[in-house]
Amino acid sequence: MSDVWWRDAVIYQVYPRSFADSDGDGMGDLRGITERLPQLKELGVDAVWLSPFYPSPQRDGGYDVADYRDVDPRFGDLDDLGKLITAAHELGIRFIVDLVPNHTSSEHQWFRAALNAGPGSPERARYIFRDEPPNSWQSVFGGPAWQQVPDGQWYLHLFDVSQPDLNWDNPEVRDEFADILRFWLDRGVDGFRVDVAHGLIKDPGLAEYTYRGAVLGGLDPLGPPPPMWDQEGVHEIYRQWRRIVEAYPGDRVLVAEAWVSPADRLARYVRSDEMNQAFNFEYMEARWLPAELRQVIDVSLAAGDGVGAPTTWVLSNHDVVRHATRLGYEGSRGRMPGIGVGDPQPDTGLGLRRARAATLQMLALPGSAYLYQGEELGLPEHTTLPDDARQDPAWERSGHTERGRDGCRVPLPWEADAPSYGFGPSDRSWLPQPAVWAEYALDRQQGVAGSTWELYRSALALRREHHLGLGDLTWLDETKDVLAFRNGQVLVLTNFGAEPVSLPLGARVLLSSEPLGDDGRVPGDVTLWAAL
Ligand code: GLC
Repeated sequence: MSDVWWRDAVIYQVYPRSFADSDGDGMGDLRGITERLPQLKELGVDAVWLSPFYPSPQRDGGYDVADYRDVDPRFGDLDDLGKLITAAHELGIRFIVDLVPNHTSSEHQWFRAALNAGPGSPERARYIFRDEPPNSWQSVFGGPAWQQVPDGQWYLHLFDVSQPDLNWDNPEVRDEFADILRFWLDRGVDGFRVDVAHGLIKDPGLAEYTYRGAVLGGLDPLGPPPPMWDQEGVHEIYRQWRRIVEAYPGDRVLVAEAWVSPADRLARYVRSDEMNQAFNFEYMEARWLPAELRQVIDVSLAAGDGVGAPTTWVLSNHDVVRHATRLGYEGSRGRMPGIGVGDPQPDTGLGLRRARAATLQMLALPGSAYLYQGEELGLPEHTTLPDDARQDPAWERSGHTERGRDGCRVPLPWEADAPSYGFGPSDRSWLPQPAVWAEYALDRQQGVAGSTWELYRSALALRREHHLGLGDLTWLDETKDVLAFRNGQVLVLTNFGAEPVSLPLGARVLLSSEPLGDDGRVPGDVTLWAAL
């Protein structure tokens, strides 16, 4: 087990719409990713996880899949994808694809057939249709989770109205996804990130649940467990998938996106015959407070150990406000529902400083770590994106109360002085890029000592050299404002306070998230790695 590649892997998330655009249409594409892969090699990641690239009306950024066995023409074709996978493998980078099994797009041929076939048909039985809404569940993006169709029936959509939930009690649905897994395994993918893994099975009675905050993990502190999340029946599905994946040679990985807490509940998704990893959202949501972080780290490690699975760590992804911005708000917590014009703006200097410290802490923890494209440049959220440019369905569906996730999905800056900051050959960009993108562009950071890009590169190289991902964590004495641990021969110290702190005698500095003071002490909001 300890020799599987994913146990300590650093996995880099590519959101294809926004990574690199090869043809100048303003939308990222697969060729763009292939052209930029050498940069990911230079960064030093072990694997890429590619967010959905399937044919889709793009009502939810591709998480509304119309065909699970093809590529959206916006991004290229199956041949381009084959070339991308081959190019990644030639560079020694593993390749994980995103699988969206909870719902299809309403443009999927199954849903079209369901609408045509009418009530009571086998086509409708692949989805969750009822004559009347049996409850008043709310969709994750706001508004009711039931939608009426012209013949009077209603279907369930936990997300956008264009994302009808599949009926996983129907064996046809299970067979179809088993086949989809094999389709991609046959094309050489190294694993799957499983979208909304906690949602596939609903309580059989579709029991009432009115607590709107239940979406994506927030539980009603007073009420019963939500009938749409984390039902026992999901585990049987992942046991079947594990058997399918294990029938293929090599070590493939199944990663759960499951907004489930507490940690030992999440650990049930990574028991020895289920998935291999689950995103650690509790860590992502922790505040910048030493006691809180220590507690989350301990609980996470114990939960993973309890089932023999590696713990994972993550600070940013395509659904949350980027951590360089979250940490620019004092006391901020959770994923934050997006930021826009008129909202309180973050302290970007503080945010970046803390983000660099947080990342260095994360990359020294034992287990596997997930990076989200652009964080290696220190990118902040676009916090002044014009509201009329927003595309996240959450903005409309929440009645303009949640700005949504567009601010973390803005196309990347590669070259400071090029049109679209080098995102593509034209000046087009599907979301407008802010003027500050120039200072974050990759070409302003490569080879520049102290840049965020060079910090990530050094951290990934040292992490590999010292086998930090495979190590063990031992806490060292702490004071109120300092969190310090040992992983093998490496001391990892984060100073959360205002006063600089001294290093133990004889410690040799390996890396620090900001320059140390002239006296060699570690300033506030800085993480330091030192050899003992
Ligand atoms: C997951 C995805 C998110 C998407 C949702 C519905 O949470 O990460 O982007 O909107 O599922 O598929």
